[in-house]
Amino acid sequence: MYKNLANTLFLAKQVISMPTCHSTNEVAREMAQKPDTLEGTVIICQSQTKGRGQRGNSWESDPGQNLTLSIVLRPGFLKIQEQFFLNIITSLAVRDVVTHFLPKADVKVKWPNDVLIGNRKTAGILIENVINRNRIEYAVIGIGLNVNQTAFATPRATSLRIESGVSFDTTDVFEQLMSSIEHYYLKLKSGRLKEVKSEYLQYLFGFRQKRNYLAEFRFEGVIEDVTDTGFLVVSDKRGRQNYDFKEIEFIY
Ligand code: BTN
Repeated sequence: MYKNLANTLFLAKQVISMPTCHSTNEVAREMAQKPDTLEGTVIICQSQTKGRGQRGNSWESDPGQNLTLSIVLRPGFLKIQEQFFLNIITSLAVRDVVTHFLPKADVKVKWPNDVLIGNRKTAGILIENVINRNRIEYAVIGIGLNVNQTAFATPRATSLRIESGVSFDTTDVFEQLMSSIEHYYLKLKSGRLKEVKSEYLQYLFGFRQKRNYLAEFRFEGVIEDVTDTGFLVVSDKRGRQNYDFKEIEFIY
């Protein structure tokens, strides 16, 4: 089972591990509203009955095979217009963990916050921020990381086991993930925004490559940048355009 960690400073000092829940993000949101819920509290479920994904999608994960968890953070030090940096550091932390277990794999972050091995998705991230008086009161960082599942409904999904042929102890992956998230979060807290942003661009899927995209129509473009507020900057024959989350899709 997942236990409170000794080797972190604040993350996962309180771990609430349950066999089943609707969605760890929902449980974490309820807990975060209580002021006595400590920053770094983690909710982890073996199985979610209503796991939620981005864009109103569901998140499917075979019980006990993968990590499905949410973390309560209180990043009052971030300005509202800097909230995309939570996506940046979470993606980088998950990327580091996947690379730790699969050192030879080509692991990329896909804007806004998926983690890919090759061009298949091994992790999804759902971040929900609650704003109060122009500050982020709390953030729920939901992570689904495919570890040992060997079959998926979509050919676009993969897991650490599919990629390596070996299975992993999910508690080891959990511990690695917590220390990686803490590492990146503390970087952010100490104001190293430029540094994490440049690392994000270094590992960004499609960065400075010609690829096909779908916005109002299909076009060929090149990712030039991601703004600090989280817009994807893509150039095409019309020039440079900024796209918000729901305005553009990758075609591959
Ligand atoms: C995506 O669509 O890529 C985001 C998926 C996020 C899934 C995780 S699993 C743990 C947490 N609880 C949820 O209901 N969703 C997130």
